[in-house]
Amino acid sequence: MDATLKVLFDAADHAAAYAYAPYSNFSVGAAIRTPSGHIIAGCNVENAAYPAGTCAEAGAIAAMVATGETKISDIAIVGLKSNPCYPCGACRQRIFEFSDATTRVHLRNSATGEAITHSIDALLPNAFGPRDLGVV
Ligand code: THU
Repeated sequence: MDATLKVLFDAADHAAAYAYAPYSNFSVGAAIRTPSGHIIAGCNVENAAYPAGTCAEAGAIAAMVATGETKISDIAIVGLKSNPCYPCGACRQRIFEFSDATTRVHLRNSATGEAITHSIDALLPNAFGPRDLGVV
């Protein structure tokens, strides 16, 4: 993978190392690159009341919005126990909210170290989104 993408995966790996996942033992990290070049990461944070837990992508998106940015150029997702770790359905929807046709979702084959890259449209075709509610 190229050096720019490696920086993004390094941030996702770093966040995954801090994941709070005592129930599933399934640590996930996500790192977003915004159009301005900022890199913002998140990890999954579980809760004893299971549905209150949050995914890594949700954490990264919340942190991005809190910096005043609302567009994802790239997002890298790593799961320490799955290879590759595809985003769950809810997180595909969360990513779509802040994506456009140029947004790229990067996963990694941890056996080979190779990146697997998709458009959000490939992961969530015919998505319901902001446009449907008149927000563009
Ligand atoms: N998880 C994520 O953080 N992102 C995903 O896209 C898939 C699942 C987390 C949620 C939960 O803490 C653990 O992985 C097992 O489902």
